[in-house]
Amino acid sequence: MNYCYLNGRYVTKVKTKISVEDRGFNFSDSVYELIQFRNNTLYNYSKHLTRLSKSLEEVSIANPFKNFNSLFLIIKYLIRMNKYNSGYIYIQISRGEAARNHLFPTNIKPNVVILLYPLRRDMDVSKGVAVKTGADIRWKKCNIKSTSLLANVLGKQFAKENGVYEIWQLNEKYEVTEGTTSNSFIVCNENIIYTHPKNEYILGGVTRDTVIEIAKVNGLKISETPFNLKHIEKCKEAFLTSTTVGVLPVTIINKRLVSDGDIGGITKHLMSLYNNHLTQQLNQI
Ligand code: PDD
Repeated sequence: MNYCYLNGRYVTKVKTKISVEDRGFNFSDSVYELIQFRNNTLYNYSKHLTRLSKSLEEVSIANPFKNFNSLFLIIKYLIRMNKYNSGYIYIQISRGEAARNHLFPTNIKPNVVILLYPLRRDMDVSKGVAVKTGADIRWKKCNIKSTSLLANVLGKQFAKENGVYEIWQLNEKYEVTEGTTSNSFIVCNENIIYTHPKNEYILGGVTRDTVIEIAKVNGLKISETPFNLKHIEKCKEAFLTSTTVGVLPVTIINKRLVSDGDIGGITKHLMSLYNNHLTQQLNQI
């Protein structure tokens, strides 16, 4: 039996009912957050909460958790009920339910859904993955972790149909913004790591931010500067980051082998530093 949380109640997934007039359903008028937990520890928890608050603020949805302690208790209870000790938590908050109208209604209560999923082991990524570049067709507010994910969904599906893990999305200057579900990095000459700056053209990934902090603390050179197709052709290493995969090596870009197809030294180093960082966290639930 899999339990989820809906507006104050803990219910089995099959019994969870949300109105057809939920604005998340009709307009994607909702935001979400995804947190990984292992051995009953919530990874990068405070960073996820900060981003959730920002997403809510950006779209003017009232924060249903006046105090994030209550959210912590809900998550804890849900994890216990589901008897998971590792997995993913999806927190989804829509503006609420109202008769269909683009304009925001007043005085409606946000709908809050929290779902748990087991850790994903859907593919063997230990040897790294292939990516392909493609046009970034998304809107100009990608910094909001909104459930308006249709462009990302189509991009990810296109990746699968082309036998690659991700599409690295290009802006009109042929610079990589990010992947459809992850942030993108390359390592160039002088071992400088490049990634797109954090602005409205990318989702500021919690993993990305953490990796940047770790890289700086450990004396690695990292530059939040866009990189383009020419830089990709010459790069020595590449990787991507997300909550679901952590630091994932990229060994093929547009059918070209990066580093002869081996996982690069800096990437390996960051993978190990990031894993250590996670396992040292003490957010026991
Ligand atoms: N996606 N960019 C996009 C467009 C994303 O959807 C994600 C996360 C990231 C990485 O962010 P973070 O490091 O905070 O997970 C970057 C996850 C996997 C998802 O929503 O399912």
